[in-house]
Amino acid sequence: MKFHVITIFPNLFDSYLNDSIMKRAIESGKISVHFYNPRDFTQNKHNKVDDIPYGGGPGMIMTVDPIIRAWSAARYQGAQNKIMRILTTGRIDGGRKFKTIILSPGGVDFTTDYAKHAVQDYTDIIFICGRYEGIDARVAQIIGEQAESVSIGNYVLTGGELAAMVMIDSLSRQVDGVLGNSDSLEEERISSHEMYTRPAEYKHKNTIYSVPQVLMEGNHKLIDEWRKNH
Ligand code: ADE
Repeated sequence: MKFHVITIFPNLFDSYLNDSIMKRAIESGKISVHFYNPRDFTQNKHNKVDDIPYGGGPGMIMTVDPIIRAWSAARYQGAQNKIMRILTTGRIDGGRKFKTIILSPGGVDFTTDYAKHAVQDYTDIIFICGRYEGIDARVAQIIGEQAESVSIGNYVLTGGELAAMVMIDSLSRQVDGVLGNSDSLEEERISSHEMYTRPAEYKHKNTIYSVPQVLMEGNHKLIDEWRKNH
C-alpha cells in the first residue's frame, strides 16, 4: 500500500513513522509513505499557499493551485512512471487504484470498516491535509468523484496531519504482513477489551487486584464465553 501525503508540515510525521510497527512496515516494503509539500509547487515569489477567504471571515484558506499540482505529482509518483492516463474513475494505467482523502472535521466518519475496505479496494491513498481555516472547495471539485472528505472524530484539530497519521496507522494494520505474529489484530479479538497480563495479583494501597480465575485455567470455551461478556 502506498500512502501519499500532501502537507506543508511533513516533519510532523517523522517520529511516528520512524518507530515500532510503522518503521518495520516501511522497511519491509509492505507500506510506503511519500510526501508532497504544496510550498514546493507554488509559482509565486514567496511560496505562498494561502489567501484570505472570499466573502470575508476569519483565517486563511489554502489555495487551489499548489494543492492540485502536488496532487498531480502524487498521481504520477504512484504510477511509477508507467504510461499514465488519469481516468475519472480513479484508475491509472499500470493497474494502480487511487483514492484521495481530504481530511476534514466535517467529512464521513473513519472506522475500522472503512480501513478494511480501503485496503481491499485501493493500492494508493492520497491524503490532503488542510491547515488554516480550510482548503478552497475547488480542490474537491477538480479531483472529482475519487475524492472524499473524511473525519477521524467529532472535534476540530489544528490541521489534517494528525488525522492522516491516525488513518495511516489504522489502514496499515489491515495490510497483509504488517502485523507480526506477536502483534495481535485487536479488531479480531472476541468482544472483550478487558485484558490482563502477569502478575496474577497486584497490590495497590492494601487492596489486591486479581486476574479473573477463568483466564488462568486454560479452558478456551469458558474463556471465549467470559470475553463475550467483558
Ligand atoms: N482536520 C481538523 N480536524 C479534523 C478531524 N477531526 N478529522 C479529520 N481532519 C481534521
